[in-house]
Amino acid sequence: MNVSGRVAIVTGGGQGIGKSIVEKLGSYGADVVVVDVNLEKAQAVSDTIKQMGRKSMALKVDVTNLKECEAMAEAVFKEMEAIHIVVNNAGITRDGLILRMSEEDWDAVMNVNLKGAFNCTKAALKYMTKGVRPTTRRARPASSALRSRLPGSSPQGT
Ligand SMILES: NC(=O)c1ccc[n+]([C@@H]2O[C@H](COP(=O)([O-])OP(=O)(O)OC[C@H]3O[C@@H](n4cnc5c(N)ncnc54)[C@H](O)[C@@H]3O)[C@@H](O)[C@H]2O)c1
Repeated sequence: MNVSGRVAIVTGGGQGIGKSIVEKLGSYGADVVVVDVNLEKAQAVSDTIKQMGRKSMALKVDVTNLKECEAMAEAVFKEMEAIHIVVNNAGITRDGLILRMSEEDWDAVMNVNLKGAFNCTKAALKYMTKGVRPTTRRARPASSALRSRLPGSSPQGT
């Protein structure tokens, strides 16, 4: 994977799968922004990337809030001068039988896992399409619109 010198944003990067993605991207030479609702955890992960000699930032962001995502993307572009990769990893689980699942739990999952991906992708794309450097990549690709590199389109998966 050639991500050397690329700027990546990983949401939910403070722990679990997101933390592993951050560390892997850093080990491959990317500069990584760690985004999470838990700033303390995000900061600890970000520090390990700095120890690898890469640039890194930790930002407290609730991905369900578009304004926070927009402020995040602006801050990243200002500090890192580019955004090439967004990994929409932040997610919550409220698994259960649908008969027992509350509407609140359903909405919470949709807000973080789905709308959160929309918010972060939308916010970051503003800077990813500036053409500072040619390569842009997003995780969770799901449709031909992404494979055919139409960065402004909104297919069923972001
Ligand atoms: N663990 C699994 O087996 C599994 C399987 C399939 C898919 N996934 C998906 O992979 C992703 C990561 O899973 P995990 O097991 O590492 O989860 P995790 O709970 O260990 O970590 C999720 C991270 O996201 C952060 N987060 C939660 N809500 C947020 C919000 N609103 N804004 C910003 N950050 C937020 C949390 O603080 C946490 O650091 C999730 O999207 C999950 O749905 C996980």
